[in-house]
Amino acid sequence: MEIKFIKTENPKEKPESSTLGFGKFFTDHMFIMDYSKDEGWHNQRIVPFENISLHPASTVLHYGSEIFEGLKAYRRADGKVQLFRPIENIRRMNSSAERLCLPEIPEDMALEILTKFVSVEQDWTPSAEGTSLYLRPFMFGNDESLGVHAVQNATYMIIASPVGSYYKEGINPVKIMIEAEDVRAVKGGTGYIKCGGNYAASNRAGAKAEAKGYSQVLWLDGVERRYIEEVGAMNVMFKIGDEIVTPALTGSILPGITRKSCIEVLKSKGYTVSERLLSIDELSEALESGKLEEAWGCGTAAVISPIGELCYKDKKYAINGGEIGEVTQMLYDTLTGIQWGKIDDCYGWTCEIK
Ligand code: PLP
Ligand code: COI
Repeated sequence: MEIKFIKTENPKEKPESSTLGFGKFFTDHMFIMDYSKDEGWHNQRIVPFENISLHPASTVLHYGSEIFEGLKAYRRADGKVQLFRPIENIRRMNSSAERLCLPEIPEDMALEILTKFVSVEQDWTPSAEGTSLYLRPFMFGNDESLGVHAVQNATYMIIASPVGSYYKEGINPVKIMIEAEDVRAVKGGTGYIKCGGNYAASNRAGAKAEAKGYSQVLWLDGVERRYIEEVGAMNVMFKIGDEIVTPALTGSILPGITRKSCIEVLKSKGYTVSERLLSIDELSEALESGKLEEAWGCGTAAVISPIGELCYKDKKYAINGGEIGEVTQMLYDTLTGIQWGKIDDCYGWTCEIK
């Protein structure tokens, strides 16, 4: 596959690491390729970062045919740059594409594109503690017609953004509100994929939570509003006595790559991990009796984020005195240690950029 490269003539100034935040700055280039039913994926190119132009009837603007991924490139202490489990993102992207009838991308092609793009932009990977280069691959349907059906034309792009922490709290515990009215997803719907529509539908509850001083919402299942699902941008885990519980992947939850990695780390260290249904009644009981020792969220953007307070129907529960717990800290140290190349990657998860 040939990837055309048009180098920018106006390289940007790189931002100070203290100003990064999340997703505010973008690198000099972007990757883009086109799909048509007749030609398949074609015209692979890395071009200067710029606005794109769309036909006003483009499918994505009317019927939301859009999927995305999120992964990071990390600057190691030896100066090299590496990715964390990129093949998992590529596979999930294809699962998302399958659900929305968007075209899949052969895994080897997707990996070659991703690594080439990161190689071109690698100077943008910041080196300050806790910073990384966030990569946002995305795909959208762009038939120039208003009929509702599986698309014949699509675009795949990757943009990159140097980032610090997702939450203003950083590694300090966040406050999460359990949402009792709106629901995010139902089995048979799109909860298990990463499509823009899932996030658009979650904004109302998110805004309500933010107005009350909470970072994000914790969703309950869409049928009974009884079982814990996940947080807006991360999966959740709870330490209840000696058991680590995380909601099972029932079809309405995103199969997080950080979640999967946490489970593998926990199991390899001898913890009992249960992927099962966890009802709000069981959680409330564990909160009230003090059996709930730790809670944390996990995701690429959020990394490992301790939850210091949960609020359900205006009742507030502090967790572990609002402090980061031992297991949460261990997971944070292990995952970030591997991602930033500070500890040995005994799981074979990292992929060095040449
Ligand atoms: N759940 C949702 C809704 C998300 O947006 C994310 C972030 O990607 C996650 C969970 C965590 O997934 P991952 O660990 O693959 O980033
Ligand atoms: C990620 O963690 O990569 C995500 O996609 C979360 C995002 C919605 C900010």
